[in-house]
Amino acid sequence: MAKLHNVPPEELERQRQYALRVRELLAAKYPTRAPRAFVHTYGCQGNVADGERIEGQLEEMGYEFCDSPENADFALYNTCAVREHAEDRVFGNVGKLKNYKQKNPDMVLALCGCMMQQAHVRDRIYKSYPYVNLVFGTHVLHRLPELLYETLTGPRRVVCAPDSPGEIAEHLPVRRTGGVKAWLPIMYGCDNFCSYCVVPYVRSRERSREPEDVLCEARGLIASGCREITLLGQNVNSYGKGNVSGLNFAGLLRELNALPGDFKLRFMTSHPKDCTHELLETIAACDKVSKHLHLPVQSGNDRVLAAMNRRYTRAQYLDLVADAKATVPGLSLTSDIIVGFPGETYAEFCDTLSLVEAVGYTSLFTFIYSPRVGTAAAKLPDPVSHKEKTEWFAQLTALQEKIAAGARAQMRGRTYTVLVEGRAKAGGALLAGRTDGNIMLEFPGDPALIGTYQNVRVTDAGHWTLLGERTTDAPER
Ligand code: 5AD
Ligand code: SF4
Repeated sequence: MAKLHNVPPEELERQRQYALRVRELLAAKYPTRAPRAFVHTYGCQGNVADGERIEGQLEEMGYEFCDSPENADFALYNTCAVREHAEDRVFGNVGKLKNYKQKNPDMVLALCGCMMQQAHVRDRIYKSYPYVNLVFGTHVLHRLPELLYETLTGPRRVVCAPDSPGEIAEHLPVRRTGGVKAWLPIMYGCDNFCSYCVVPYVRSRERSREPEDVLCEARGLIASGCREITLLGQNVNSYGKGNVSGLNFAGLLRELNALPGDFKLRFMTSHPKDCTHELLETIAACDKVSKHLHLPVQSGNDRVLAAMNRRYTRAQYLDLVADAKATVPGLSLTSDIIVGFPGETYAEFCDTLSLVEAVGYTSLFTFIYSPRVGTAAAKLPDPVSHKEKTEWFAQLTALQEKIAAGARAQMRGRTYTVLVEGRAKAGGALLAGRTDGNIMLEFPGDPALIGTYQNVRVTDAGHWTLLGERTTDAPER
């Protein structure tokens, strides 16, 4: 049976031919050095994974990479539309590019990603940022060679951001920068239409990669020394709907878990309404799957949850958490929460506080509600001031910090297995590694240990960072 959703091989071949033509053009334009590209990605890990495929294609076209747009021949912002703050940062940075372009008029300035799927954003770019040469949307990443060829050879600005049900482009070159960790998208798009969220509009309908394509990419990653693979999707729990194979997410996890090699699997994000007991049992049974579940609750109040179109109640969520904790001993839970959804009252917000206290999350990603053009929630009355929402937000983060400090204190003296990811951010001689539950530990050690699993005993459960030392003790987890 023909595969659903995939870009046909002839089209990918056509793009490869364009890539060769761009390569020749660039070689003639820069005879003494490689052309330089600057790529910056905003937003979620899904966008980061797209950025890696964009960079892979640029590499194929002959580009080297640089860390600042200042000396770039090609500068690209891969944008995020999920909150206003992310959008403002993009507009600010694009404004700054004008100076670089004045110094180097041959520089190509490009924008892509979720913001570019929105007509009002494209209009604003077109009118107010005339020096931007190329704009492309989330459904045409694989056509970058053709679009860049047009930009380099044609007189006009190139804009290509079709609305489409979305396709999957397999076998694109990938330039990975995650060291021993890698992102592996297993599905794209979203069908849930949470009332606050722009994603279904900018990423289109949900579609899953076929298991054989996911497994093939995973095998390649493991063979190249990758030690941790994070499976990505807006809602991994509905993986496989509409696929030829019919394999669901739990089944995919089991197949990945059975691959030989010394590696761990993580995944995100899980929508609570689709999180099954089968999945929980699979997490418990699969030795390579981390005992960590990112299960965004968004709110602890039933009226707000209904207005958000989340399709579960507080009680259902708490039942699911109880089942998860019982099925997967020692499970680490994390969540996303929105503060100040339109019409949320302080009493309703307090239900979120009590839920956070009841669940005991390892960590939280907290956001103040940001109205998004075209979403249902953006049309609702929103009487609470931003100042008040900021105060609620501070209350939530203080509560979570109190909970996390208690959990950190309990970790003192215990031993955990961590994957050593690199040097600690603060510098010095410390290395950094994450526990199975996704908690960062820092400890002294030789950088040669990066990429290995080590047992580390927590010696100091300080304010933000947990310090430890390598040990021969058996790990708790
Ligand atoms: N305003 C604030 N936060 C949002 N998120 C998604 N849309 C919005 C919005 N309009 C948050 C949700 C989601 C996370 C990725 O971003 O909590 O889970
Ligand atoms: Fe990711 Fe959503 Fe932001 Fe797009 S809008 S980059 S899907 S978080």
